[in-house]
Amino acid sequence: MNLGVVTSGGDSPGMNAAVRAVVRQGVALDARMIGFRQGFQGIIDVDLRELDAQSVSGILDRGGTWLGSGRCPQFTSEQGVRKAIDTLHSLEIEGLVVIGGDGSLKGAHALNRQGLRAVVVPATIDNDIYGTEATIGYDTCLNTILDAVSRIRDTASAHDRLFVLEVMGRDSGELALNSALAGGAEVVAIPETGPPWDVVREMIEHGHQRGKLHILIIVAEGSLSADEMAQYVSRNFPGREVRRSVLGHIQRGGRPSARDCIIASRMGARAVTALVQGGSDVMVGLQGEELVLVSLAEAISRKKEIDLSLLDLVANLAR
Ligand code: F6P
Repeated sequence: MNLGVVTSGGDSPGMNAAVRAVVRQGVALDARMIGFRQGFQGIIDVDLRELDAQSVSGILDRGGTWLGSGRCPQFTSEQGVRKAIDTLHSLEIEGLVVIGGDGSLKGAHALNRQGLRAVVVPATIDNDIYGTEATIGYDTCLNTILDAVSRIRDTASAHDRLFVLEVMGRDSGELALNSALAGGAEVVAIPETGPPWDVVREMIEHGHQRGKLHILIIVAEGSLSADEMAQYVSRNFPGREVRRSVLGHIQRGGRPSARDCIIASRMGARAVTALVQGGSDVMVGLQGEELVLVSLAEAISRKKEIDLSLLDLVANLAR
């Protein structure tokens, strides 16, 4: 049996651990494994290499993705998907493991609808996929943000400054909310709710009364920018010294955490096993530490809910 593997969309730490698991498990199950480079575009362009157990040596703990990745606009059209299907059929590939985030789920679902069996391993720093408690890369990213928070707090307290830290999360506040909780930020702004102007005012006034040496506001990029938040504070609290920091793509790189390596290894192996057993149109999800298969139609159509009660907890614990 010939099986393919591709990493697609924004890279995330742990993608390589997933590729390694897919290839090694595939080889153990007597499959011939083909890796496509640079995401779905690599399938359309027939940019591939055959992978054996040896070829994935030394990639387990490397950040980024060894296969390369990318967002593929062509894949949003039926014609683009058809082209990919033609390549996969001509190579006699019977199934494909797609490692990536929401765009990858949609691409994989489109392949399934046109008759090519595809199984998804969810990998994105955003952790915004319905049907799985964790996506590969989220834990590493959260820890990278916490490292930055701790460094910023050092300098913020030394100068009695208010800092605004902008983190990733175009449509999801998961990273911002949990880094605020774990990092002891005073305020967090997420795309799921409006800008928390009242909380900002209250926390600054409360911090002043309590003699706090620093205030940290974390904003998710999809909520508002660090600049917008800093301008609001400067306008309303003219005496307050404000600095801003945009963490950017530092959040996407780096050596994957133990947790990401573990879930990537488990999910990658499970995805291949599912394909060998005839599975299709599903994503491997983590629910209560167990791996489950979730239908792609469901994972795509439903939105992962964020726990909004944590917003109050962030503020309460910072008072
Ligand atoms: O989806 C992952 C993510 O890192 C988002 O958090 C962010 O908004 C986006 O990708 C950035 O994409 P790019 O690397 O294409 O600028």
